[in-house]
Amino acid sequence: MKFISGKSIVFATATSLALSAPVTYDTNSTVQLETSLSQEVIGWSHATFPAIYQTCNETNARMINAAYKDTAEATAYGKSRLLNYGIDDVYYKRWFGNGSIFTAMGVFDQLMEASKGGMLVRCDDVDGLCAANPDYYAGHHRDSAPTETVICDYFYRSKKPLSTMCFEGTIVDVGPKHYAGIDMLHRYLHVPAMNMNEYIGEYGETLEEVVDFAQNNGTFAVKNVDNYLYYIADVYSSSVIPGGCLGDL
Ligand SMILES: *[C@@H]1O[C@H](CO)[C@@H](O)[C@H](O)[C@H]1NC(C)=O
Ligand SMILES: *[C@@H]1O[C@H](CO)[C@@H](O)[C@H](O)[C@H]1NC(C)=O
Ligand SMILES: *[C@@H]1O[C@H](CO)[C@@H](O)[C@H](O)[C@H]1NC(C)=O
Ligand SMILES: *[C@@H]1O[C@H](CO)[C@@H](O)[C@H](O)[C@H]1NC(C)=O
Repeated sequence: MKFISGKSIVFATATSLALSAPVTYDTNSTVQLETSLSQEVIGWSHATFPAIYQTCNETNARMINAAYKDTAEATAYGKSRLLNYGIDDVYYKRWFGNGSIFTAMGVFDQLMEASKGGMLVRCDDVDGLCAANPDYYAGHHRDSAPTETVICDYFYRSKKPLSTMCFEGTIVDVGPKHYAGIDMLHRYLHVPAMNMNEYIGEYGETLEEVVDFAQNNGTFAVKNVDNYLYYIADVYSSSVIPGGCLGDL
């Protein structure tokens, strides 16, 4: 069987994926949501997404929801590849080396289907870090409220939909975080409940470090955020565009 036939990963329409209207909270610090948002996304039976705070206007929320949809699409391809090709796959070896596939599989499930109750994405620059880093910070994790992520205006200008994959350069050229959905996944992994208090972490962010982990330190390749981001972008690009666009390592 060929990997992912054209129809095996189908996504809900924009309408059915649309998340509920922003919920109102009476505090702007850490919030506990009663239920995490959960949507049927083919490829994921119970995809969950962080709540979008009321400080995100309709325009912001539409772009964040589009990024959420891309998180589901990109990870669905990645997980399907893990399940169908296993540890001998060239993509697996390229990014995870001899790291444990059980860890990798768990990270994909955790990212997309684990409860995100309490996780919040907000659009006010509550800590002032967007303004302090204009045209540089696309968003940031809040150390003072660890379940929260601030999205800066620069996110909307700099991060691209998956539909632009391979358009502006190779993955090596632009980096996986060029894509809004993949960038969003890395933001999830800053949240302690998602990263198991930094069991998964940013141990090495440069391509050189990522490749070095895969080749020499599989234990950390499957614990390093950027190894996942490169794997996801690489698998996605080669699944949807003949030959993909990894570029030269
Ligand atoms: C919301 O955050 C602002 C800025 O940090 C703070 O001044 C204000 O007191 C907070 N409001 C609530 C209800 O926590
Ligand atoms: C929404 O907020 C952004 C800033 O994040 C602003 O540029 C945009 O004009 C706002 N849109 C509406 C419809 O208010
Ligand atoms: C994984 O690869 C590294 C580096 O090549 C090697 O030192 C290590 O023994 C391997 N581990 C396993 C479990 O095969
Ligand atoms: C793997 O990487 C981690 C984190 O950088 C480091 O602590 C560890 O010593 C490395 N292990 C090997 C075998 O290089």
